[in-house]
Amino acid sequence: MASPLTQKKKACVIGGTGFVASLLVKLLLEKGYAVNTTVRDPDNKKKISHLVALQDIGDLKLFGADLTEEESFNAPIEGCDLVFHVATPVNFASQDPENDMIKPAILGVQNVLKACAKAKTVKRVILTSSAAAVTINKLNGTGLVMDEKDWTDVEFLTSEKPPTWGYPASKTLAEKAAWKFAEEYNIDLITVIPTLMTGTSLTPAIPSSVELAMSLITGKEFLINAMKGMQMLSGSISITNVEDVCRAHIFVAESESASGRYICSAVNTSVPELAKFLKERYPQFEVPTDFKDFPSKPKLTLSSEKLISEGFNFKYGIDEIYDQTVQYFKDKGVLA
Ligand SMILES: NC(=O)c1ccc[n+]([C@@H]2O[C@H](COP(=O)([O-])OP(=O)(O)OC[C@H]3O[C@@H](n4cnc5c(N)ncnc54)[C@H](OP(=O)(O)O)[C@@H]3O)[C@@H](O)[C@H]2O)c1
Repeated sequence: MASPLTQKKKACVIGGTGFVASLLVKLLLEKGYAVNTTVRDPDNKKKISHLVALQDIGDLKLFGADLTEEESFNAPIEGCDLVFHVATPVNFASQDPENDMIKPAILGVQNVLKACAKAKTVKRVILTSSAAAVTINKLNGTGLVMDEKDWTDVEFLTSEKPPTWGYPASKTLAEKAAWKFAEEYNIDLITVIPTLMTGTSLTPAIPSSVELAMSLITGKEFLINAMKGMQMLSGSISITNVEDVCRAHIFVAESESASGRYICSAVNTSVPELAKFLKERYPQFEVPTDFKDFPSKPKLTLSSEKLISEGFNFKYGIDEIYDQTVQYFKDKGVLA
């Protein structure tokens, strides 16, 4: 018997131009959903070209909306059964993370949820959070296992201000704001917590997270250092294929009994371990493997046990994740 959550099939995806959201739109259309998606600038033909191409698959409508404009979400969300709030302001180089990321992320969550409450048709909201909202803390050691009960220590981030602190702070505070609002307005909220995503992208440009995940192969020193920084701050290099993350969004949206937070992480590793794997699998590329005294083991593992125990299967392990991304780079002409 079809679940009530899948009988009516109209979904809204907030931030459709993005890496994750554009693939989510595609998968929803392929499953027969009618989809409304929001973009910041519907007149920017280049930025929306990959979404316009998806209109051949099914009923896809584009709406202009900005996270900081309260009323802009009313029209796209009206009449929808499911809302996927994927958009977030990302600016790792920001000199003013408070105004560039933290405030708009929180305001965006509140504005989207307000429109959901107003619409009266929305049965469930799925918010894309991040492992950055779970794993960052002052704990030392190795072998830690983190799950949905864990939260990033925002006080540590705002007092110590480690590099890129604004992004994890914005993701943690936005997810907390979402839970508070959902409770107050009795909204059925679920959060999906992905790790670093890579794989094939529909977007015109290669997404920054894919560039980061491929840095050991492309040899971009700045990005390799960013990967090391990520391991030091987050405790691991945890990687998931974007398609699995989108499938997980739809899985929890359609699962009647789903509730709460869901970590979605396929692979747990470190920079040196990943480099060793890549060197062996792709000997044709010059992957660095000498990391001197940089920690060879991750401090922690992110557990996807909750998602898996409720019936989700990851399609992509580390081999498939990188085979697909290497092929994507070849198709884009950036790897020979
Ligand atoms: N990629 C990863 O490795 C990763 C890992 C964990 C979690 N996540 C989470 O997954 C979600 C999607 O990430 P992504 O990699 O797909 O990012 P992305 O490609 O950079 O997409 C971000 C989207 O947010 C939109 N956006 C930013 N500021 C906005 C604003 N003020 N109003 C409306 N829209 C705004 C962007 O619109 P424009 O096109 O107009 O700029 C874009 O569509 C985010 O919530 C991110 O935190 C990503």
